[in-house]
Amino acid sequence: MGEFLPSNPVMVVHGGAWDIPDDMVEAHLRGVRSAVAAGWRVLERGGSALDAVEEAVVVMEDDETFDAGRGSFLNRDGKVQLDAFIMDGATLRGGGVGCVERLRNPVRAARKILSDSPHVYFVAEGAERFAAEHGIALCRNEDLVIPREVKRLREYQAQAAGGDGNDLFAPTEDMLSHDTVGAVALDRGGNIAAATSTGGTLNKAPGRLGDSSLIGCGCYADNSSAAASTTGWGEPIMKLVLAKWAADRVESGNLPEWVAKEAMNYLKQRVNGHGGIILLDAQGRFGIAHNTPRMAWALHTAQKQEAGIQRNG
Ligand code: GLY
Repeated sequence: MGEFLPSNPVMVVHGGAWDIPDDMVEAHLRGVRSAVAAGWRVLERGGSALDAVEEAVVVMEDDETFDAGRGSFLNRDGKVQLDAFIMDGATLRGGGVGCVERLRNPVRAARKILSDSPHVYFVAEGAERFAAEHGIALCRNEDLVIPREVKRLREYQAQAAGGDGNDLFAPTEDMLSHDTVGAVALDRGGNIAAATSTGGTLNKAPGRLGDSSLIGCGCYADNSSAAASTTGWGEPIMKLVLAKWAADRVESGNLPEWVAKEAMNYLKQRVNGHGGIILLDAQGRFGIAHNTPRMAWALHTAQKQEAGIQRNG
């Protein structure tokens, strides 16, 4: 047995990949910086990667800037419906919730499933009941709805009623808004973890589940490959099982930085998808890539702290 060498922790978060308008740039940067700081505080004191990604995602769920938790996009019925997944790279245990309407922090319920249930996934009322039975307070759906999103939905539905002939399988520019949030982390023990949380897409059909909470699509973590969190238009991402696709390529010996870019090329070329990804291996090597105009991200290592929202091209 070789000597155990503690790892240098790494924390990376994203706050969604889309054409983030100029007047929302500062709020996004503030949000991802707060999230990465929350995760880093856990790692710095020797906490687990799993705790770090949970805390980072909670910060973004609580921030109305993002399409996660309160302030999320509304579905066709004017309700917030949330999905989240969290995964531990050391044990391959995962926890996910889908289509929940009464949880402020779906990632907390996902974590409870990972820790306290033999199952991996709960949806809708069953997920809310599981959360309540495990000490998580339920809220009203109205508590998650904010005026900005009521206005956005009304405008979107009014425009759609005008009959713009949208192709169901190819989103228009105004559908390209995905502020899904996510985090990946490496702790001192050499373990990696990932978490992703979303309110999904604007005007989605009630019951529609995106990629974010599907294992291997919006989120994946395995110490022997990588931790990944994706953001973007969920249907193409889930068709490619993109987070697992990327993790597998890291396991084959490719650098996360290269794989992250390749994943975005693959998403665009194979299914005309758009989005972003953060990817981290157990050696602390990471990749951040998107094929949308912007993606909010932040990272923290022992050497550096950075945040960005760069415009591609
Ligand atoms: N990526 C978020 C969603 O499509 O639901």
